[in-house]
Order: sequence, then C-alpha cells, then structure tokens
Amino acid sequence: MDSIVVQGGGELNGQIQISGAKNTCLKLMSAALLTDEPLTLTNVPRLSDIKTLGTLLESLGCEVAMLNDGQVMALSGREITNRKADYEIVRKLRASFNVLGPLLARENEAIVSLPGGCAIGARAVDLHIKALETLGATIELDGGYVHAKAPNGLTGAVIEFPFVSVGATENAVTAATLAKGTTVIKNAAREPDTVDLIKCLVAMGAKIEGAGTSTLTIEGVDHLHGATHEVIADRIELGTFMVAPAICGGSVELLGGRLDLIGAFVERLDAAGINVTETDGGLLVARRGDVVKAADVTTAPFPGYPTDLQAQFMAMMCTAEGTSTLEETIFENRFMHAPELIRMGAKIDVDGNTAKVTGVEQLNGARVMATDLRASASLILAGLRAKGETVVSRVYHLDRGYEKIEEKLRGVGANIERISE
Ligand code: UD1
Repeated sequence: MDSIVVQGGGELNGQIQISGAKNTCLKLMSAALLTDEPLTLTNVPRLSDIKTLGTLLESLGCEVAMLNDGQVMALSGREITNRKADYEIVRKLRASFNVLGPLLARENEAIVSLPGGCAIGARAVDLHIKALETLGATIELDGGYVHAKAPNGLTGAVIEFPFVSVGATENAVTAATLAKGTTVIKNAAREPDTVDLIKCLVAMGAKIEGAGTSTLTIEGVDHLHGATHEVIADRIELGTFMVAPAICGGSVELLGGRLDLIGAFVERLDAAGINVTETDGGLLVARRGDVVKAADVTTAPFPGYPTDLQAQFMAMMCTAEGTSTLEETIFENRFMHAPELIRMGAKIDVDGNTAKVTGVEQLNGARVMATDLRASASLILAGLRAKGETVVSRVYHLDRGYEKIEEKLRGVGANIERISE
C-alpha cells in the first residue's frame, strides 16, 4: 500500500493549477443517463472516484471513453441495458447513489444499492427517497437495495426539504427534468456543484429556473439531448492548497481559483491573518504577518463554510496563535483527523461536534493514518509545517479526491513523495 512521506519546514512559492471539481463531475456523469445522445465533459479530474463511477455507468450500459489524457470524458447512454446499480460499486462511492434520479426518470425503474463512501457519519438517503416519492415513484427497500418504480413516468410536484441536502437536491432536479409538468424544489442546495449540474442540464435541454437560489423550478420536458460541458474548478482542492502557504509561509497562486466559489472560507482565512487577492489567472495567497491567528469556524451549507474544508482549517489552527473553536454541523463523526493531529503534538479537545484547538509552537512529524479523504489532506498540510518526517498511510483516500497532489505541492517547493510500503 502507498504512503506519502512529507519532510516539514520551508516556505512554499509558485503556482498550482486547480483541477475540475470531483463532486461536481460525479453528478455530471450521472446526468448522461438522462439522454440517448452523447454528453461530453471537459476539465475532468483524473481520480479514482471518477473511474469508479465510470465503471458503474458502464455496468448500466453507458459507453464511457476517456480522451485527451483523461481530461475529456465522452459518455453515451444510447441504450440502458441494466437498471440495477450494484452494491459492489455503489458501496465504494456515495455519490453513485445519484444514478437513481436519472435512471428512474429515463427508464421508469431503478434498483440502486444503499451507498457507502467516506466514514464520516450516518449519511442517510431518506431525503432522496422522499423527494422521488413526491414525484410519484413507488419505493421499496429490500436486501440493501432501493427499488424505485414509476410505470407511468414521474409527475412534477412541490418538494420541500426540511434541511439542505446537496445529494438529494441533485437527485430530485435530475429526476424532475423528465417528469410531466412542473416541479418546485424548496430549500434546495445552492452549492456551486449543484449550480454547475443545472447549467449542464439546461445545456441538455432541461428547463430549470433558480439555480443558485433556495427555490428551483423545473418544467419537465419529453427528451434531453447531448451537450458538451466544462467541469467547474474544484473549490475544495482550491481551499486545501490555499492552506498550504498560509501554514508554511511564502506565496502561492492558485490558477483557476475563483472567489465566488469559496467566499466563506476566504473570509475565515482573512480572520486568521491570510491575504487572498485576485489575479488574472486565479487567486494569490500569502500570510499578512509571521503568524497565523486563531479563528473560529462553523460549517454550513453553501454559501456557508464548507464541511469539506474543516479538517484542513484545523491543521492550520494547530500552530496558530491562540485558541480556536471549530464546529461541525453537517456530519457527525467528522473529527477523525484530530487524534492523528494530536499524535503530531497538536492540542485539540473534541466534545461532540465541537473541537477546541490551542495553537502550539511546533508540530512534530509522526506516522499517521488517513481516515477519510479530507482528513488525509489535513495530515499532509500538518506534515508540511511539522518538524521532521511525517508518513501518511492509507493514501487511497487521498487518491479518491486530489489529482497529483504530491506533484502539485512539489511544484511549489514542498518536500513530499509517495512510497510503496
Ligand atoms: C455533502 C456536503 C457537500 C460536500 C459532500 C462531499 C453539505 C450540505 N453537503 O454533500 O457540500 O461536497 O458532502 O463531502 O455541506 N442527510 C439526511 N438524509 C438524506 C440526505 C442527507 O439526513 O437523505 C443529511 C446528511 O447526513 C448530512 C446533511 O443531510 O447531515 C447534508 O448531507 P448532503 O448534503 O446530502 O450530503 P452530500 O450530498 O454527501
């Protein structure tokens, strides 16, 4: 199994190109099931999660071709040959549960395994199921599978979510594109990922109003057609690399970075004493002074502070001046990086969904274990700041979501390599 070895210390300077967004790309790929015409995606990140979903789509009869060194993906769902998304694939990737909406809308039937994914809490799918039932589907749970049927097709309706769910909003929107009549989704997700998916669906002929607001109105159409769509920049990768110069010193330009993707995070960086400025090519990040200051974070749905950047901020707070409070409101059990950071000398007290981090002068390199995707990134960031060598094992988590992370960090001066142990 591979591990990542980081020798800490030293400033980081230079440029990092931000890849296409993993979470967005996965939902865009599932949208290919809505049409018998080709959907071409560009700016595709080359990641294991993307491959996993590609395998699932192929198992349903979709053709998936990778072009241009994997950065372009040509999907063709000309004929759906199988309506069952198997446990063996879905368990590896929670986002694959989002084949349910498109498959059901197109085929009037879908059988999808209940999902797995990162071990960061219960991560229910009840909102997905209720939304599709509201559109007229009959749903049964049997043997770990969701059996969804709508023999006469789906019918537009009003769906009101009790709280924001990105995945459920996206399953509902995709399903509603082919439903009869009008669907209104209230308390919809406003995440850039959802907005990008809607942009692609509109390019495919869907009629959707309200992207980026809490209310979406979808006028069902009979058919969707093919399209070519460029995947937006990955705001989580962007935020992760913004922490690197903040924690180590130096200045790094994130090419392709956009403030509108990451406003709440940038505001917290500012509170911690980090400057972020727009450049022609993206965003430039550098510390204002010698030290990072303690700053508090509460995760929330967009436009709030992203849960996927909580672990990285914690890594930065470990050597900040003062005590910070990090509150996780999206997922329970999302502080699994804390015990690993403590092994590196951090002072962190976790109490339920709140972590108090008191900055220490120095972290020390250690052997640590990645427990989920974003936790892995936080350990690498801490390793860059620590004295000596940090070895992060179980990096397959990292490979799910960060394209060429060692190469990108080496490009700005980090001492980081991958080894096989
Ligand atoms: C979540 C994040 C998203 C992130 C993604 C990948 C939020 C709101 N969502 O999206 O930004 O990119 O993880 O890490 O920040 N829930 C239910 N029932 C459901 C669906 C969700 O109870 O049917 C709960 C979840 O357990 C969670 C909350 O709703 O507590 C939000 O989950 P949701 O947005 O659906 O999760 P993802 O789509 O995975």
